[in-house]
Amino acid sequence: MTDDTDMMVSLMIEEDGAPAAAPDADVGAEAPAPIRMRARDVNVFYADKQALFDVDIDLALNKVTALIGPSGCGKSTFLRCLNRMNDIIDICRVTGSITLDDRDIYGRDIDVVQLRARVGMVFQKPNPFPKSIYENVAYGPRIHGLARKGRELNDIVEKSLRRAGLFDEVSDRLQQPGTSLSGGQQQRLCIARAIAISPEVILMDEPCSALDPIATAKVEELIDELREHYTIAIVTHNMQQAARVSQFTAFFHLGELVEFEATEQIFTNPHDQRTQDYITGRFG
Ligand SMILES: Nc1ncnc2c1ncn2[C@@H]1O[C@H](COP(=O)(O)OP(=O)(O)OP(=O)(O)O)[C@@H](O)[C@H]1O
Ligand SMILES: [Mg+2]
Repeated sequence: MTDDTDMMVSLMIEEDGAPAAAPDADVGAEAPAPIRMRARDVNVFYADKQALFDVDIDLALNKVTALIGPSGCGKSTFLRCLNRMNDIIDICRVTGSITLDDRDIYGRDIDVVQLRARVGMVFQKPNPFPKSIYENVAYGPRIHGLARKGRELNDIVEKSLRRAGLFDEVSDRLQQPGTSLSGGQQQRLCIARAIAISPEVILMDEPCSALDPIATAKVEELIDELREHYTIAIVTHNMQQAARVSQFTAFFHLGELVEFEATEQIFTNPHDQRTQDYITGRFG
């Protein structure tokens, strides 16, 4: 094996030498998962500077898609296209087509508030509202009218906290401020908040970069559990994380989508020299 191949294979291995959680070893064997979101020929401009060039990506149901690439290559820009968060940046212009279940999310008939409820987002830095743990999770369902009675709201809060793997740690202090939690707990609270409004797609922009290794491991485990219910896209700078949590990986470079493949393929046998250079740490 060449050094490069060694390095690539070692990315698939946990530090203790055990095989990494298989990124769906049977990706090729099973029937292809239905596509929930489809991006075609997506170009993004900030004023007259182009940040993305003709990007085509599919997000499949119950799969995690990792977006990787050097800083400034457009990962966050692309993620924000998927729930129209770029709309709030005045100088930003998006062209091409992005669909959710075959409906154009940039269409005139689209209610952006509803879209963002269906396509939720978790950010790099945990950002709980300055409210109680309970309110952080209850706020969204209440304003979206998802619960009619207090008891229904309590159920949603509990279910969301459980699904985010946080309930047991906070059940006796739901009225304390969300900001009183540790960083890792705050990030799981933000995930619970995103889940509470029953999204279909969850976008995560470097959700573990502010967390320590133990909190990171918990969130990674959670992502793997969540994919049973959702379609997930995650931006990460951590190659081992991409290898561990995703089934598909998209490698961006200078605003271009260089390669989009099954994760195993990208990390063991990438087609493009730039992908190989990046995942073996030659640049970025
Ligand atoms: N609000 C903005 N206004 C102007 N230019 C922007 C804006 N946001 C991003 N850009 C530019 O678009 C390009 C892509 O940025 P983006 O934040 O998407 O990269 P990234 O891959 O997420 O990087 P990082 O890994 O550092 O988070 C960069 O050249 C950046 O300077
Ligand atoms: Mg970014």
